[in-house]
Amino acid sequence: MCGIVGYTGPQEALDVVIAGLRRLEYRGYDSAGVAVQTRGADGQWLLATDKRAGKLVNLEKSLAETPLAAGTTGIGHTRWATHGGPTDANAHPHLDDHRKVAVVHNGIIENFARLRADLADRGHTLRSETDTEVVAHLLAEAYDGDLAEAMRAVCRQLDGAFTLVAVHADAPGTVVGARRNSPLVVGVGDGENFLASDVAAFIAHTREAIELGQDQVVELRPDGVSVTNFDGTPAEVREYHVDWDASAAEKGGYDYFMLKEIAEQPKAVADTLLGRIGTDGRLTLDELRIPDQVLREVDKVVIVACGTAFHAGMIAKYAIEHWTRIPCEVEVASEFRYRDPIMDDRTLVVAISQSGETMDTLMALRHAREQGAKVLAICNTNGSTIPRESDAVLYTHAGPEVAVASTKAFLTQLVACYLVALYLGQVRGTKWGDEISSVIRELGDAPRQVEQVLGTMEPVRALARSLADARSVLFLGRHVGYPVALEGALKLKELAYMHAEGFAAGELKHGPIALIEEGLPVVVVVPSPRGRSILHDKIVSNIQEIRARGARTIVIAEEGDEAVVPYADHLIRIPATPTLLQPLVSTVPLQVFACELATAKGHEVDQPRNLAKSVTVE
Ligand code: F6R
Repeated sequence: MCGIVGYTGPQEALDVVIAGLRRLEYRGYDSAGVAVQTRGADGQWLLATDKRAGKLVNLEKSLAETPLAAGTTGIGHTRWATHGGPTDANAHPHLDDHRKVAVVHNGIIENFARLRADLADRGHTLRSETDTEVVAHLLAEAYDGDLAEAMRAVCRQLDGAFTLVAVHADAPGTVVGARRNSPLVVGVGDGENFLASDVAAFIAHTREAIELGQDQVVELRPDGVSVTNFDGTPAEVREYHVDWDASAAEKGGYDYFMLKEIAEQPKAVADTLLGRIGTDGRLTLDELRIPDQVLREVDKVVIVACGTAFHAGMIAKYAIEHWTRIPCEVEVASEFRYRDPIMDDRTLVVAISQSGETMDTLMALRHAREQGAKVLAICNTNGSTIPRESDAVLYTHAGPEVAVASTKAFLTQLVACYLVALYLGQVRGTKWGDEISSVIRELGDAPRQVEQVLGTMEPVRALARSLADARSVLFLGRHVGYPVALEGALKLKELAYMHAEGFAAGELKHGPIALIEEGLPVVVVVPSPRGRSILHDKIVSNIQEIRARGARTIVIAEEGDEAVVPYADHLIRIPATPTLLQPLVSTVPLQVFACELATAKGHEVDQPRNLAKSVTVE
């Protein structure tokens, strides 16, 4: 949510900042702006700024028409609006009355109304509707030759979650940042340094990064970086090397990031499995910092996550309960802490998050730790807040996911969930035997199976294009196919902006069947006829029921499942796989379907309206 870039060094700051913002635009794209330190005709330092409503391209056009004066220190922002609509005036950076300070912000300053009223009483003129602008005015008041000290003093007055990055005309070459509950990373270069919401912004320049902690202020100069806590004491920070390169964050010949990320799924799944299945067929999750003894004593698992990650959690529940016999609850993170959930030191909370910054998930895990529960994060972003605040982390290795709609991160979250479930089974000895060993073998085959599905998607694309004018699409599933149906519907809503709903197929007759009308497309995810064949038979009956009422049935079924053939208007084949692992292959056609349908409607699939990739406000 909101992308932030700061730069100081020998290069033209505007070029570095705009290139960084382009990489971060997935975070928010309502408006964009920049500020650069430069010298006026009289040789005095001043701030040159430009900001425009709409996507980054609007700002770039404006800069092409009226270029900013040159400078080698600057900041930039792409916005996802919270306070105040997406207008030029509300775009960041915000400046104080004397245009000495420019500030960009991600998050929400909860006490801004009182601060704003106090500033107005002291004679300041506030020009926007944002919560951010107060910070520019407060920094201008607090500045006494040390911008980091001013930032610390201001942060101590702020409530809420924020990343702030600021420059001051009288502090040439210095950029200052602060973070509380919102992401901010430092890129350490040679004679130049960077600040950004995400390493993608500076990966083309350096892969050396510093993770900032909670309530810390960083001061950046071309020759150094210093980090302090809000109270002015020196801070402990973690330095790390980013193990993916700039090309991973490029489109690589695809029209959209989403297409590229769908295609990358076999590799993402393989990378997430890599080194975790031993040659003896047992799992080694050495990175888990929770001792096996503690895992043996766990008597309840609670999964918290949002959106697509929540759907991965729903599937994990089936796997965990089946393979370990430990009761497992799964809940949307935004609801979790408000219902006073019951937990203790034998509860294992699993927090799933691609970005590692989702505020709802972060708050849920903090609540869990306060109750004494152990928290295991499943996360795709090294150095992000959720793994840092958890007792243990299992990283998914999907690489950077740029498209707002999650695809490869979802598949790798599933893999990580299966690994956790199997590992719990392994350390506890529960049901450890032939079934689990064979599942681990099958999991090793998942990259090949996902590849196989991707190779057969042309008819799915054609079908999606033919449905571009449909008003509504329903998705049905049973067992793990139910969360897959929810995920298929979520993808279609967010990308194609159309009515799409997922249901447990058994619930159909309890209400939703009233929605079925002549020609309504209904996607049905069919469980394997092998193993739990009762599930299969029941869903085949459900398909007949909806078809009898006029639905146009789009059936996703395993190769060799002939029972569905007479009732499928469209049949999408997936490889045979154990029921619990089926989501790894059955989700892929739904991702392709939503992406193609949205493209056929002329929508911008990488940046759907109203959304942002990383939701850092509650
Ligand atoms: C949907 C989507 C979102 C995210 C959700 C959680 O395609 O991407 O629903 O899954 O916002 O995000 P993370 O995983 O970053 O916590």
